[in-house]
Amino acid sequence: MTNRPALPPEIARRRTFAIISHPDAGKTTLTEKFLLYGGAIQMAGQVRAKGEARRTRSDFMQMEKDRGISVSASAMSFDFGKYRFNLVDTPGHSDFSEDTYRTLTAVDAAVMVIDGAKGVESQTRKLFEVCRLRDLPILTFCNKMDRESRDTFDIIDEIQENLAIDVTPASWPIGVGRDFIGCYDILRDRLELMDRADRNKVADSIQINGLDDPKLAQHVPADLLAKFRDEIEMAKALLPKLDPASVLNGSMTPIWFGSAMNSFGVKELMDGLATYGPEPQIQSAQPRNVAPEEIPVTGFVFKVQANMDPKHRDRVAFVRLASGHFERGMKLTHVRSKKQMAITNPVLFLAADRELAEEAWAGDIIGIPNHGQLRIGDTLTEGEAIRVTGIPSFAPELLQTCRAGDPMKAKHLEKALMQFAEEGAAKVFKPTFGSGFIVGVVGALQFEVLASRIELEYGLPVRFESSQFTSARWVAGDKIAVDAFVAANKQHIATDNDGDTVFLTRLQWDIDRVGRDYPAITLTATKEMM
Ligand code: G4P
Repeated sequence: MTNRPALPPEIARRRTFAIISHPDAGKTTLTEKFLLYGGAIQMAGQVRAKGEARRTRSDFMQMEKDRGISVSASAMSFDFGKYRFNLVDTPGHSDFSEDTYRTLTAVDAAVMVIDGAKGVESQTRKLFEVCRLRDLPILTFCNKMDRESRDTFDIIDEIQENLAIDVTPASWPIGVGRDFIGCYDILRDRLELMDRADRNKVADSIQINGLDDPKLAQHVPADLLAKFRDEIEMAKALLPKLDPASVLNGSMTPIWFGSAMNSFGVKELMDGLATYGPEPQIQSAQPRNVAPEEIPVTGFVFKVQANMDPKHRDRVAFVRLASGHFERGMKLTHVRSKKQMAITNPVLFLAADRELAEEAWAGDIIGIPNHGQLRIGDTLTEGEAIRVTGIPSFAPELLQTCRAGDPMKAKHLEKALMQFAEEGAAKVFKPTFGSGFIVGVVGALQFEVLASRIELEYGLPVRFESSQFTSARWVAGDKIAVDAFVAANKQHIATDNDGDTVFLTRLQWDIDRVGRDYPAITLTATKEMM
C-alpha cells in the first residue's frame, strides 16, 4: 500500500466488495438497505420482489425458488455520496463454494455479517478463510441487535479467537434486546438512536461531546447509561484502536452493531466502507501485475452466466476491470485466443436494472454478452499479452455419470454440459472408455440444479447415476511421461472440458500409487483457469 501514486478520482471513489455471511444472518436484508441508502431503490423489499420477478420472467431455476437459495451471483452498482459502490453478490449456500471463491477474486474488500445471537457460524468461517488467503480487508456488521443478542465483549472475543483477527469496535450498542436503543458511534462521537416505529427510517444522529456530555443522559435511560459507561471504559482499555493500515492489510476488522431490518447502523457501515475500505487494488497477473491507474484497460472474467434469457442462447461474462477507463465500443484483445473483440453492448448492473455501460473504470464490474468465447479466468487487454492469475479451478469432490433420457440426444447433452462447464457450474469429463459423461461438482445440490437447468434450458430430461469414480486429478508432467502414464492407465483417463488430461479414481490409494510409480507425473487438485 505504500508509495502508490494517488489514483485518478474516478477510480479512487470506487469500492468493490462482497458480503460474506452464514445463511440467515441478514445478507439479503443488508443488501436491500445498502441499495436503499444508495438511492438505487425507492423502498426496501424490492430486492426480493425483483428477484422473484426475474425468476418468473426467465423461468430461471425453479429450484432456486423452491428452496429459497440464491444460485447465481450477480453484481450491483450504486452511488453513496461521492462514492461508487460495486457490490458483488456471493451465492449463500455452502454447496457453491467454488463460485463464491471466484467471486471473492473480483473484490477488494468484504463485509462480514454475523448474527448477534449466533456469533461466528460455519459458513462465515469458511468464507473468512478464503478472504484471508488474499488478505482482503474485512468490515464486520453484527446484525439483529434489536433482538436478544450476546454480550458485546463475548461477540468481539469470539471473532478475535475464532478468526484470529484483531477486532476494533467502530460503534458500541446501548441496551440489549427489547431494551436496545441504539449505538454510540465511537469513531465520530455521536449517538445513533434506532427508530423502532419506522423500519426504513434513517436513525437520528445526535452529535455529542465526549462521554461526559449531559446530552447522553437526556437520551439514554440512567440504568443503561451506567452500564454503557462501564463497558466503553473497559473497551477503550482492552480493545485495540482503529488503525486504518491494519484494516487495509486485513489484520484488523472494525465492527459495527446494528439491525439491518430496522435500517439501523447500515449507513455508518457504508460510511466506514467509504472511509476505510480500499480503493481498487493491484491485480496479480503474468508476466507483470496490473495497477488500476494504468491508462490501458485490462479486465478479467470471474463468472459466466449462461441463459439469463432462455430465448437467446446468450451468456454474460462478468468482467472485473483491473485498470483503465473503459468506453463502450472499445476493441479489446482476448488474450487466450489473441483475437480482438469489439465490446459494443456491455452491461452495467445498476441496481434497478441492467443498463448499457457507456463507460466504466478500474474497479467496476461489467457484463459482456457473448456466444461462448469468454470463459472464466480469461483476460481482456488493449493488446498486451497479460494473464490475470489466481482464479483457481478446484477438483470436484463429487462425481456422477450423466445420461440423456433419450439416447438419441447424446450430442445435445454434450453441448449443454459443455456450456455449464464453461460457466463454471460443473466439471465435465469425457472418459477414454465407455459412454456418457462424468460430471463433477463441489456440492451435491449442484446435480439437481444442473438436471433442472438442462431440462428447462435445453428441453432435455437427464439422469445422474453414481459413477465408479469418486476423485478427479489433473495430470501434469512432460509429454513423454504423460503419454506413458495415459497408455498404462487408460481405464482411468478422461479429458476435461478444456481438453486437459484427468486421472479418475475411487481410491486415495491409487493417487498415492501414482506418486510412487510415476515420479515424473504430478496429480493436482486445482488447475488455474486460463
Ligand atoms: P440471508 O440473506 O443472510 O439468508 O438473511 P436474510 O436477509 O434473508 O434474513 C434472514 C432473516 O432474518 C429474515 O427473516 C430477516 O427478516 C431477518 N432479519 C434480518 N435482519 C434482521 C434484523 O436486524 N433484526 C431481526 N430481528 N431480524 C432480521 P425471515 O423470517 O426468514 O424472513 P422475512 O419473512 O422477515 O422476510
